[in-house]
Amino acid sequence: MHGHINISTLSELECHRAVDRLGLLKWLGSFSVGDDAVDSQHRRFFDLAATIPMLIDSDAPDAEVRAAIRMLHTDAISHFTQEEALLAEIAFTGTDRHRIAHQDLAYAFSELVREIDRQEDIHALGAIAHQMVMALLEHMLSEDMLYKSHLMRSRGL
Ligand SMILES: [Fe+2]
Ligand SMILES: [Fe+2]
Repeated sequence: MHGHINISTLSELECHRAVDRLGLLKWLGSFSVGDDAVDSQHRRFFDLAATIPMLIDSDAPDAEVRAAIRMLHTDAISHFTQEEALLAEIAFTGTDRHRIAHQDLAYAFSELVREIDRQEDIHALGAIAHQMVMALLEHMLSEDMLYKSHLMRSRGL
């Protein structure tokens, strides 16, 4: 049993450590890229990242867990398309490179999603979801952050 943690009083680093220890992921204001639509899509990944382990924890039927993973997959693909359109619109010089990073993720995800039909073990499904979530968040915190200042400037922010 974990002790109660008040996330709002923690520094960003402490917060990262706490959510890590609890296996949860928390959205932070600094993750914003300056576009409401993109931010809400990114936030949704955090919601699904928390929902899937909760489903597994509460012994939800495997079909529900598989459906949540498929939703994460389709959400990610549609997010990539919308983000690429935004990057092209603001003439971000790294758009092509970013598109390739999305294609690599999309390929890895389609392999993982294929795997969920073969997988009977619920914890193995959780591990697949975790792998997808971590790859998405890593991309968000590295690649997506590269266009943030360009986007903000293009919006006069
Ligand atoms: Fe993104
Ligand atoms: Fe991206």
